[in-house]
Amino acid sequence: MEILLTSDMIQQRIREMAGEIEADYPADENIHLVGVLKGGFMFMADLVRAMGSRVTLDFIAVSSYAKSTKSSGEVRLVKDLDSGLEGRHVIIIEDIVDTGLTLTYLQDILRARAPRTLRTACLLSKPSRRKVDVVVDYIGFTIEDRFVVGYGLDYAEQYRNLRDIAVLDGE
Ligand code: PRP
Repeated sequence: MEILLTSDMIQQRIREMAGEIEADYPADENIHLVGVLKGGFMFMADLVRAMGSRVTLDFIAVSSYAKSTKSSGEVRLVKDLDSGLEGRHVIIIEDIVDTGLTLTYLQDILRARAPRTLRTACLLSKPSRRKVDVVVDYIGFTIEDRFVVGYGLDYAEQYRNLRDIAVLDGE
């Protein structure tokens, strides 16, 4: 497989993103990170380790009903958060924004829970695939429309454990 982003490139960019994020919030206020399962688990794990101590985290899991209906934007909530968001500085942590449909759904349902602020951080963005105009406050890498795996991203549940991000052969 062709390596698109090496582990070193990813880790370097995550350190920069952690710095950008922390600089945007008052130093004495907690930042609550909401990781989106499953793809976002590795980005979440490295991002929190690159940030200081004023971080709490939670996870949410969503699934599109089926690949064939993904374009409809139907998203199913598979696992909800453990705690409420009211009055908190919340950042959604995603591995990739593609059409933007999943993220739009997540932003809508989380905004309804009255966080003090709501922002989004995505490691990867494929702007050429966008179907809805969604705001992403922190983007790690902007990439072409190629099928990427590794670092949390899967093909048929495989390759999530790769340290690098690779382009899948034949895609
Ligand atoms: C991926 C990714 C985002 C979504 C982005 O999740 O983690 O949640 O797709 O696509 P979109 O912008 O077109 O909505 P996926 O459905 O593959 O689930 P996974 O994270 O469990 O692998």
